Amino acid sequence: MTAEEAKKKIDTLSRELEEHNHSYYVLSEPTISDYNFDQLLKELEKLEEQFPQFADENSPTKRVGGDITKKFNEVVHDFPMMSLSNTYSKDEIIDWENRIRKIADGEIDYVCELKYDGVAIGIKYVNGAMSRAVTRGDGTKGEDITNNVRTIRTIPMKLKGNHFPPDFEIRGEIFYPLANFQKLNEQREEAGEALFANPRNTASGTLKMQDSSIVASRGLDCYLYGVYSKETLADSHFQSVQSAGEWGFKIPSADHKMIAKCENIDQIMEFINHWDEQRHSLDFEIDGIVIKVNNYRQQEELGFTAKSPRWAIAYKFKAAEVTTVLDSVSYQVGRTGAITPVANLKPVLLAGTTVKRASLHNADQIEKLDLRVGDHVYVEKGGEIIPKVTAVDLAKRDVSAPEFKYITQCPECNTQLVRNEGDAKHYCPNDLGCPPQIKGKMEHFISRKAMDIEGLGSETIDQLHEEGIIHSIADLYDLKADQLLPLERMAEKSVENMLEGIEASKQVPFERVLFALGIRYVGETVAKKLARYFKTLDKLMSADAETLVAVDEIGERIAQSVVDYFANEEHQALINRLKNAGLQFEIPEEQFAGNTEKLKGFSFVISGVFERHSRDELKELIEKNGGKNSGSVSSKTSYILAGEGMGPSKREKAEKLGVQIISEADFEGMIM
Ligand code: IVH
Repeated sequence: MTAEEAKKKIDTLSRELEEHNHSYYVLSEPTISDYNFDQLLKELEKLEEQFPQFADENSPTKRVGGDITKKFNEVVHDFPMMSLSNTYSKDEIIDWENRIRKIADGEIDYVCELKYDGVAIGIKYVNGAMSRAVTRGDGTKGEDITNNVRTIRTIPMKLKGNHFPPDFEIRGEIFYPLANFQKLNEQREEAGEALFANPRNTASGTLKMQDSSIVASRGLDCYLYGVYSKETLADSHFQSVQSAGEWGFKIPSADHKMIAKCENIDQIMEFINHWDEQRHSLDFEIDGIVIKVNNYRQQEELGFTAKSPRWAIAYKFKAAEVTTVLDSVSYQVGRTGAITPVANLKPVLLAGTTVKRASLHNADQIEKLDLRVGDHVYVEKGGEIIPKVTAVDLAKRDVSAPEFKYITQCPECNTQLVRNEGDAKHYCPNDLGCPPQIKGKMEHFISRKAMDIEGLGSETIDQLHEEGIIHSIADLYDLKADQLLPLERMAEKSVENMLEGIEASKQVPFERVLFALGIRYVGETVAKKLARYFKTLDKLMSADAETLVAVDEIGERIAQSVVDYFANEEHQALINRLKNAGLQFEIPEEQFAGNTEKLKGFSFVISGVFERHSRDELKELIEKNGGKNSGSVSSKTSYILAGEGMGPSKREKAEKLGVQIISEADFEGMIM
């Protein structure tokens, strides 16, 4: 393929992929199968590798992330990012509307919109291509988070059609869809990690992550609410939002009443009341309604105060809240032994559902609330799925109510609880003898991402545990058909399947076995890191905390948890049994034959085409010799391994950062 042909192909593929992306994510009308989409994306990736001079920073291949931002640059906004004046009072909305009618000339149209509860973003487009995305910051200057914003599928990188201004900024709100937020917390729970408190803060934290591939995996979303351009492109706000939709942005649907033109205060109130009632049916959080004067000429006439536009106001919803009585506090024991206190409440109706229980998080939270059994408490439903107790009505407290005492023994097995420094939660350390922990650990062990044992589900685990047939995961490997057949609901075929599934699990690779053990804080990613670094369980078991912390991304908390786990004799005995059963406790020799540490501590970016190796071969050589691969040049890059046709932008960046550029021959010399 000639360079010219390649450029053409890259252009058509990019356009085609963005088009499918728009249909899928913005319009929710898929126009291609996932498989075919992936094939096209792979084809584009390959061409971009072969012809790096044509790789575009707004290529659809950037959606999966990979670029690392070491430091987010500060950027001054072209137009300050102001805030909205807001109120919780409908009377003040009426006053505002009256004032507007007095100041502005002629008939006035309003636009009502949802007030998305997320993170404000300003995105600039030059000639239809995304050029930078900046956070609100202090309103005057924000942080450049373009690499991360490119991974949000509903934000176009190249605009559709050609009816957009050559240079403009669009502003909106990035948020964490509730379903994705819940999924994230479920994964964290499974890994024994602390849960995120709410979607807004998590969206904000996600956008500030250095590794854009993690941002890509989180599934953030965005609604756009304002176009800022030196040229006038429409007479009204409503019209310009519709235009933005035509350029490919995700805009609120007028059909679903997510945006509406209103002619008077009654229609405004109707919009507010509708969403005050319906807001919990949305898949994202809103904290109010924004009312804007529609016509741009009238907006200009009304102008701004020092902080906010006079032509807009936000009506904020009160968080859905009720009071009820705290009957008792109970405690749940998770699979890792973490104790979670739960408030048992007199049933009460809140935002459409009956609430009987609410989360209390941990002992500190109870102390902070100064909670006592019998108290009248405020219960609030925010973005979290489980409602929470936010305060106590002290005026209604029974003066004789005794102070609250947090438990000191495990409610399930009576073991003395421990609380490590820096941990918010108490733990039951009796992980091999505490029933919910035993069951939870076994369920985790057989789960899909761990040992993935076919023919064995959590109900069977419960049954076998209750019948006294299994006491630990190691017992699974001693199971015999004649123990199982007499049990209820055990047919010959299902017993056969189960035993085959257990047998097959002996081939599951080391990193998953390590994850399956359920060591606190050792989730999937950490297990992978540890397995690849130490290569055998014996080496991992003999590592001290200091050695562990030296591994990339392993902090002190994880290191200590690993050391504690393996120091326990019962765990050692369990591992011996699993070893004897034939589970994989090391990475097979052939996978790391010929490995060296010659490139340890060096990070490489590969660019261009090479004479003697393919790019994949080079990547593998880098890893085999202890180095790291990275997709983009940053101040962390040690070397750029450059072949034929290295992109000029990479070269420029390398020179600016003073990163050394080496040839294929130089590289070969380094690993000789
Ligand atoms: S218009 C001059 N419309 O609310 C500001 N803002 O204090 C014009 N927000 O951080 C903003 N939904 O990011 C506008 N439909 C909406 C909005 C909205 C959420 C956020 C905005 C800003 C805050 C305003």
